Amino acid sequence: MVCGVNLYVCVCVFFCLSSSASLLACGIHQASSQIYIAPDSLIGVERYSSSLAIENTPEDVQEYSWHRGANDTEENLIISYNATSHSRRDGPMYSGRESVSVRGTLRIRGSQLNDTGNYTVRVDTISDTQRATGWLEILGELLEIPQTSVNTTSVVDGEDVVAATCYTNDSQVQWYVNYAPVSRNYRMTVCPDNKTLVIRMFSRFDSPLQCGIEILPELIQKSDLVYVTVAYGPYSLQLSSSPTDFSGILSAEIGSQVEMECISYSRPESKYRWMHNGSFLSFSEKNITLPSLTWDQMGRYRCIEENSATQLTLYDEVHVQAPCECRRGPSLSPNLPTSMPLPGGCLSSEMSSSPCGQQRHLCEPVCPFAI
Ligand SMILES: *[C@@H]1O[C@H](CO)[C@@H](O)[C@H](O)[C@H]1NC(C)=O
Ligand SMILES: *[C@@H]1O[C@H](CO)[C@@H](O)[C@H](O)[C@H]1NC(C)=O
Ligand SMILES: *[C@@H]1O[C@H](CO)[C@@H](O)[C@H](O)[C@H]1NC(C)=O
Ligand SMILES: *[C@@H]1O[C@H](CO)[C@@H](O)[C@H](O)[C@H]1NC(C)=O
Ligand SMILES: *[C@@H]1O[C@H](CO)[C@@H](O)[C@H](O)[C@H]1NC(C)=O
Ligand SMILES: *[C@@H]1O[C@H](CO)[C@@H](O)[C@H](O)[C@H]1NC(C)=O
Ligand SMILES: *[C@@H]1O[C@H](CO)[C@@H](O)[C@H](O)[C@H]1NC(C)=O
Ligand SMILES: *[C@@H]1O[C@H](CO)[C@@H](O)[C@H](O)[C@H]1NC(C)=O
Ligand SMILES: *[C@@H]1O[C@H](CO)[C@@H](O)[C@H](O)[C@H]1NC(C)=O
Repeated sequence: MVCGVNLYVCVCVFFCLSSSASLLACGIHQASSQIYIAPDSLIGVERYSSSLAIENTPEDVQEYSWHRGANDTEENLIISYNATSHSRRDGPMYSGRESVSVRGTLRIRGSQLNDTGNYTVRVDTISDTQRATGWLEILGELLEIPQTSVNTTSVVDGEDVVAATCYTNDSQVQWYVNYAPVSRNYRMTVCPDNKTLVIRMFSRFDSPLQCGIEILPELIQKSDLVYVTVAYGPYSLQLSSSPTDFSGILSAEIGSQVEMECISYSRPESKYRWMHNGSFLSFSEKNITLPSLTWDQMGRYRCIEENSATQLTLYDEVHVQAPCECRRGPSLSPNLPTSMPLPGGCLSSEMSSSPCGQQRHLCEPVCPFAI
């Protein structure tokens, strides 16, 4: 960090000049415990907090006082901290944004460009008074904001490759995937120049993307978030109904209301199609309501869900039929009544004249007690 060393030398010379000591004496002072303002802390960024830290602070400090400008007069006092009484005192240059910590650090909230300038700290101990001056630079519009771009904004979950580029002149680029710093793994590769991130099998949990550059220690300037639309599904399609179906058999009385709904996870929203007894219905909602069930409306309903982006199609079915009595085999469970209705409807040889009996081929597969 050549830059850091330069700053350090600069502050040292600065101190020597302002305390009218010789440059030779400066070297000696620096080696002992002369205070100075940490060079790293003399750079701030507009709107962020700036913290001016004192180095080589003596142990028996009684008071820290911070002043605007190159000297420590009462007229340019910003704020002081009395370490004996733990009290703070505002001066004429106090703007309401400054505070001083118990270790003497001056903190300026919401730094403004015109906070740039000389700052002098005076440290009083029982036996001594030391001063240090430093030039605080608040960086403003010159500050570079990196930009992130992606080579595609619309992909299919787990299938596509996305390349993201960070536009910046800084080489210390950090990438963020779904707000978390990128750790290289089998899917994610950062190119040697750090400015390109390639993500294979891009998933819906990889968005948004963002790059950032470190402009000051612990201060990262991030780009805007870039969102990638990830198409997925349909997953786990289920035809849910009211009344509830039992293993795909929905028993409902003639004249009652029947509702069926297609439930799944899909993005973009799927297209729905419905079939009844093998013929397409002119209906494309995700749910269907039969307000008053007729004989004609009985039969097999299929909901078909198509995601045009992922080109995946799923379907599920229910059979709507009239409830029927179930007669179990006497040997199976003697404690139960000989005839009981089952939710899914069931076979009964005595009911062959009823509509239910005509549908025995539908009932049979689901009846646990079928004779
Ligand atoms: C800041 O302080 C230095 C050293 O005392 C001085 O040379 C310089 O002129 C000052 N700058 C301003 C703008 O006051
Ligand atoms: C303090 O510095 C200001 C300029 O920064 C100067 O005008 C003033 O005379 C100085 N006061 C003392 C007491 O040195
Ligand atoms: C700090 O506070 C103590 C106790 O109130 C007081 O005696 C002392 O004079 C103060 N020191 C300074 C430098 O103002
Ligand atoms: C410093 O700049 C801010 C706006 O950024 C302004 O509101 C404020 O009055 C300025 N202060 C001085 C002392 O010029
Ligand atoms: C985006 O870049 C990656 C890596 O270079 C490439 O594999 C992929 O095909 C590109 N996608 C598009 C839509 O250009
Ligand atoms: C990078 O540096 C070049 C030349 O110094 C400048 O023209 C360009 O605008 C800079 N790019 C960014 C993103 O700051
Ligand atoms: C990329 O970043 C790493 C870690 O932040 C850094 O060590 C490396 O020097 C950077 N590469 C370039 C070309 O600057
Ligand atoms: C689908 O369900 C919604 C809410 O549950 C309801 O408002 C709407 O009327 C239903 N549509 C049909 C065609 O049944
Ligand atoms: C559909 O099939 C069921 C029997 O499986 C029948 O009761 C119903 O009338 C049929 N409806 C149509 C419109 O084909």
